[in-house]
Amino acid sequence: MEFRDKVVFVAGGTSGINFGIAQAFAARGARVAVLSRSEEKVEAAVKSLKAGGGCAVGFAGDVRDIGSIEAAMARVSAEWGAIDVLISGAAGNFLAEAEKLSANGFKTVIDIDLLGCFNVMRAAFPHLRKPGAAIVNITAPQSWLPTPMQMHVCAAKAGIDQITRTAAMEWGAHGIRVNSIAPGPIAETEGMRRLAPTPAAEKAWTDSIPLRRWGTKREIAKAAQWLCSDDAAYVTGVVLPVDGGWSLGGSGAMARAVVA
Ligand code: NAP
Ligand code: COA
Repeated sequence: MEFRDKVVFVAGGTSGINFGIAQAFAARGARVAVLSRSEEKVEAAVKSLKAGGGCAVGFAGDVRDIGSIEAAMARVSAEWGAIDVLISGAAGNFLAEAEKLSANGFKTVIDIDLLGCFNVMRAAFPHLRKPGAAIVNITAPQSWLPTPMQMHVCAAKAGIDQITRTAAMEWGAHGIRVNSIAPGPIAETEGMRRLAPTPAAEKAWTDSIPLRRWGTKREIAKAAQWLCSDDAAYVTGVVLPVDGGWSLGGSGAMARAVVA
């Protein structure tokens, strides 16, 4: 897949899965903008993308503040032209039992993940290529799988999936496609450091995945590139699990326990 000179904006693109997506687009010739809160992370991400031969620019901003995103998008489109690919992946996560989670803890994750996703898409809209732009929101299987200690994340990601589907309906007329990727457990990420903090937890996750391994950042990046490529020109409003089958549910583990 070739993305030479395409303009790609990755919100939350300075580490982990989203940075992997930024790297993959840069490696295919795209001009890549990344945005996140930490100036140090932004600087390091841009340096690394450029060191890999990519064309990159970075912005310090918070997806909870639509003004900071609007300013970044305006600069990108003034400099490089319309945005061809928008990735919205900023998120916060921690394990917390619902009865101990504070209202502000719940709100914080909703604000970053769900309001943040709306802000990113809303700020991007005037700058998106019409027709032709593709949006990929990064969600999670928790959006449809109720998951203990993840009430805040389940609610936020479910909202993102409905934003994805609604925007696909509204913006299809402009020639804009909108899809989501729901990654399963991905190795070497902050998300999984938080969700599987012990070797026992790591093993439990692995055992629950039909393919019996965690995914890689590269595998998520490949899926994102496919969704944003002409090969997926008729695909919109889809939530694509890229999870080794993890979201198929717990019945496999139950059956294995019976025969063990
Ligand atoms: P990560 O490395 O912590 O990535 C989160 C990114 O978002 C960072 O660049 C972070 O940078 C940025 N960010 C966080 N809050 C922000 C805010 N308020 N405004 C702007 N940027 C913000 O975590 P990850 O594990 O790779 O997760 C990336 C995405 O994949 C998330 O959407 C997550 O829900 C999803 N996901 C991950 C997994 C997994 O296995 N890891 C599984 C399913 C879904 P700053 O700190 O500089 O802001
Ligand atoms: N358990 C329970 N509540 C928690 C918590 C935890 N581990 N971590 C934070 N909170 C609560 C705080 O107590 C606070 O609520 P309070 O005011 O009622 O005490 C609220 O969440 C906001 O915390 P704060 O630290 O001010 O938020 P922040 O905006 O600075 O950071 C987080 C957002 C909490 C999500 C932070 O972990 C973060 O920046 N995460 C980004 C990286 C990440 O999560 N990567 C994985 C993506 S899947």
